[in-house]
Amino acid sequence: MSATTISATTRTRTTASDEPDKRTIRLVRPTIERGHDIHALIRACPPLDINSSYAYLLLAHHFAETCVLALDGEAAVGFVSGYVPPARPDTLFVWQVAVHPAARGLGLGRRMLRALLERDGLVRIERIETTVSPGNAPSRRMFGAWARELGADISESPLFAGPLFGDESHDEERLLVIAPVANDSNSGGKP
Ligand SMILES: CC(C)(COP(=O)(O)OP(=O)(O)OC[C@H]1O[C@@H](n2cnc3c(N)ncnc32)[C@H](O)[C@@H]1OP(=O)(O)O)[C@@H](O)C(=O)NCCC(=O)NCCS
Repeated sequence: MSATTISATTRTRTTASDEPDKRTIRLVRPTIERGHDIHALIRACPPLDINSSYAYLLLAHHFAETCVLALDGEAAVGFVSGYVPPARPDTLFVWQVAVHPAARGLGLGRRMLRALLERDGLVRIERIETTVSPGNAPSRRMFGAWARELGADISESPLFAGPLFGDESHDEERLLVIAPVANDSNSGGKP
């Protein structure tokens, strides 16, 4: 990987030896102090929708248990947002997965997803849902690999058609369902 600028609000990488190292990247629950860094990270990760800073503050404030922030030193290099739909406590909806371009290919996306299922608050999860646009191959590959790792089936169906986004030019978002999830944490398999 060549020298890379991580983000204006995190820190600047100037040498190859300063590249992300998967051994030192730590996964934490987001805090509101990191909301701005998360917003900057999402901006660096097209084709993700860039939501408002306020949305990321709310995620950190109300949904920290179902979100993961990856830190390389103090730099935010990865983020997963998710929530448990109120009427379906057995389901984890994964909203956005972002890995900074300089940290891709290290397995970080899947590592963050895996970490979610190890959370105490998510031991009852039996089904994972997300949405993908038809052309997002990296996202499809990542969720496909996660489903295989979980020994679960993955199915796809229409959810949000393009016209539902109104004037915004937005690709269709299709629903991916990964199930059944036999969460090891649930069966006492994880420490
Ligand atoms: C999608 C994304 C999160 C993947 O992050 P990552 O840390 O590089 O992914 P991982 O290293 O964990 O890879 C997981 C799997 O996806 C595959 N993959 C990752 N990036 C890929 C790419 N650009 N093209 C093809 N496959 C890719 C990996 O090969 C791996 O599969 P394997 O285990 O079968 O080899 C990252 O590319 C990203 O942030 N993209 C922009 C935002 C986005 O589209 N997010 C997803 C929609 S919510």
